[in-house]
Amino acid sequence: MSGAATGTRPGARLQGLGLYRPAHVVTNDDLAKRVETSDEWIRTRTGIATRRVADDDESVVAMAAAAGGKALAAAGIAAADIDLVLVATCTNKSQIPAAAPQVAFRLGATAAGASDVNGACAGFCYALAMAADSIRAGSTEHVLVIGSERLSDYTNWDDRGTCILLADGAGAAVVSRAEVDEIGPVVWGHNGDRNDAIHIPGYGDNFMRMEGQAVYRWAVTLVPLLVRTCERAGITPSDLAAFVPHQANLRIIQAMAKTLGADNAIIADDVVDAGNTSAASVPMALTRLVEDGRLRSGDPALLFGFGAGLSYAGQVVRVP
Ligand code: UT7
Repeated sequence: MSGAATGTRPGARLQGLGLYRPAHVVTNDDLAKRVETSDEWIRTRTGIATRRVADDDESVVAMAAAAGGKALAAAGIAAADIDLVLVATCTNKSQIPAAAPQVAFRLGATAAGASDVNGACAGFCYALAMAADSIRAGSTEHVLVIGSERLSDYTNWDDRGTCILLADGAGAAVVSRAEVDEIGPVVWGHNGDRNDAIHIPGYGDNFMRMEGQAVYRWAVTLVPLLVRTCERAGITPSDLAAFVPHQANLRIIQAMAKTLGADNAIIADDVVDAGNTSAASVPMALTRLVEDGRLRSGDPALLFGFGAGLSYAGQVVRVP
């Protein structure tokens, strides 16, 4: 990362961020009225205190457009100048049409290509890598990348192993051409042999199933890949100003951060009051750190998504 764009090859940078949180807050005590659980159990095992659940009019498309509009405003880029809209989601209500063309239409991104990316909880980091590479290749100049999820539609509210985690929301980034590359090489991969660890059967059975313990154990084995992601960006974990992993569970995040050795980094903890929003969680958590004034422009942040697939993707970025 941070090298001058080579030859005629342009670089890519985050230009602006935005997020959308549904208004409706669901507390742990609310859930304890429906399933056998407690505020104490949920906080101890997951760190989550509250989560947001979307109302009927807060669709994946509506939330994505709201977050995307804010990212455009923060970037100072007109929707008409966007060349590509990528929406990372695994919870759009319909298989077709994809969310992205609807979002592009709502925002007035009339000249943009538009497609969804289903990388589940790693989806935003996959889409961000694709966006940066399309800029570097010269195919695009400005790309709007959004993670938007309505996990509540796919949640069995009688399953205490999942309903305590899952939530709704959207986060977005405008990625733009730059002289200096500020989005590091992506590190991505999968353990597709374990794809049944998190799945939604489909064909009329739309409840997410998750082997929580197995996913937890898998997630904490990914730390060497976090170190590799830093190496590929030309920095060490101690150089990081922020570690912004998928907001799966605060215990997983803290275990990862401890082993990573990002001693000077702010550890994103949006999960505490936003819950686990799959592809939306990384851009929501990053946007929050910036909006709260906890990061400065140019600070290096490690983004890392992981989850269903099982798949993962991450990169080091400079804060816009
Ligand atoms: O976003 C995609 C990636 N997903 C993740 O990264 C999620 C990873 N996994 C997790 O976050 C955790 O595994 C969970 C939060 C889902 C579960 O926590 P855990 O510490 O792994 O609990 P467990 O599944 O080992 O269950 C321990 C006990 C069990 O009871 P017994 O068998 O010991 O009697 C469960 O039945 O806790 C019970 N339990 C609960 N008790 C109260 C499970 N869920 C609950 C609950 N409230 N909500």
